[in-house]
Amino acid sequence: MEAIEKVCKFLDEAGTYYLATVEGDQPRVRPFGTALVYGGKLYIQTGKVKSVSKQLARNPKAEICAFKDGKWLRLSGELINDDSRDAKQAMLDKMPELKAMYSADDDNTQVLYFKNATATFSSFTEAPETVTF
Ligand SMILES: Cc1cc2nc3c(=O)[nH]c(=O)nc-3n(C[C@H](O)[C@H](O)[C@H](O)COP(=O)(O)O)c2cc1C
Repeated sequence: MEAIEKVCKFLDEAGTYYLATVEGDQPRVRPFGTALVYGGKLYIQTGKVKSVSKQLARNPKAEICAFKDGKWLRLSGELINDDSRDAKQAMLDKMPELKAMYSADDDNTQVLYFKNATATFSSFTEAPETVTF
């Protein structure tokens, strides 16, 4: 399995991950659950009205932490906005529960992909494994 697929699978199986952004000198973190590999990129989804979206527009640096079955994943990089309708629709099709709140043609739905990503899988029992994509 490709590194990016492995990271997405971990996020899917964890169900919830925590996304950190930067606001000035203040870290901000919140639970997220969206993840999709599309066109060879790892995407997440949010709403443009949210503070998280505004923070990423000013400073794209972000970090995700997820935990599952005694292993944790730390994924850092930059989250880049993609206004492609196809990418938005692919996200909504993978996660149909989003369709209650979002559509590919509204002014709010936003997908962002990781650029310069470094992902490290860790546990208390095995050596850390780092992948980049
Ligand atoms: C389990 C869980 C998963 C969530 N997944 C997402 C998500 O993928 N995208 C999103 O925009 N909000 C998601 N939310 C809601 C955000 O955590 C919430 O809107 C948060 O306040 C956004 O951060 P902000 O207030 O800094 O903008 C999720 C909430 C929970 C409890």
